[in-house]
Amino acid sequence: MKTLLTQSSETAAEFIKQGGIVAFPTETVYGLGADAFDPHAISKIFEAKMRPPDNPLIAHVGSIEQVYQLAVEIPAAAKKLIDVFFPGPLTVVLPKTESVPLLATAGLDTIGVRMPSTWIAREFLAACGRPVVAPSANLSGRPSPTTWQAVREDLDGRIDCILQADPTVIGIESTVVDCTSEIPVLLRKGGVSLERLREIVPEIRDYDSDEIAASRSPGLKHKHYSPAAAVVIVQSDEQFDATPTDGFIGLRNRPGPFRLVSICPNAEAYARSLFEFFRECDRQGVRRIFCEAVPEEGIGAALMDRIRRAADTG
Ligand code: TXA
Ligand code: MG
Repeated sequence: MKTLLTQSSETAAEFIKQGGIVAFPTETVYGLGADAFDPHAISKIFEAKMRPPDNPLIAHVGSIEQVYQLAVEIPAAAKKLIDVFFPGPLTVVLPKTESVPLLATAGLDTIGVRMPSTWIAREFLAACGRPVVAPSANLSGRPSPTTWQAVREDLDGRIDCILQADPTVIGIESTVVDCTSEIPVLLRKGGVSLERLREIVPEIRDYDSDEIAASRSPGLKHKHYSPAAAVVIVQSDEQFDATPTDGFIGLRNRPGPFRLVSICPNAEAYARSLFEFFRECDRQGVRRIFCEAVPEEGIGAALMDRIRRAADTG
């Protein structure tokens, strides 16, 4: 298959309308989209990414009306969250309608829904004229793509089209909140912090304190975000010995013979840079990546979650 590169939302949307699969930018990471109501198109996503079939997809909407095509009901807590955080890096899990194929939700009777905020994503979704299901546009297990070039690196020849735009602004995936239970549960940390969510819905539970979350959010059990290099977490005051095949990313400069270094001015910039830094380390044959730990507040909590998963320490 030849993968078309385009900067035209209209051109990219045409492939969606014809049952194809298209990578497109959002404020979090690039997604790989298909018509949310077309099982055959959805099956192509799983094939192209080599994604396990038990990992559900997120539906992206361009309008609130489209939420009602996907969900039979919007519980009160979800309504509040949607009012404040749509469009933005928040996914709410809702009871799904019959028209959403079970293939999209990995057999669950719920669907994750989010409304991206970047203008190009909004233009693309408007041109599609329907909800678009999309996981991150990487090969399964690899770091999520924050540039169109990273999408091409993983999926060239496997998908119909890449909608080219700027690197993504947030750089890690959306926050996922299950709103189908009496008390909403945070299933994945992401672009909207738990502190911010609790300003709107104070009773939201953190999945760390809710063991059933992993079974509710099947994707969480899969290995994620991993570069080929080994990832090592270091505390901000920790000494360590580096070699010339190591990389370092963090907030504070370190002496060392590193092959690749990224010093970030703050946690937001660190989150924005992390996945592309992982990919660049792989391109340059870095064998070990030292990641400086940051305080787990604001975006820092999601950032540490991704670093831990990459280091495979939970
Ligand atoms: O920022 C994002 O969320 C990006 C962009 C493209 O929107 N998408 C993304 O999708 O990260 P993906 O497939 O890499 O992660 C989707 C995760 C699943 O692995 C699962 O943990 C959770 O979202 N999820 C999706 N639907 C769910 C559902 N019905 N119930 C529980 N968890 C769900
Ligand atoms: Mg993903």
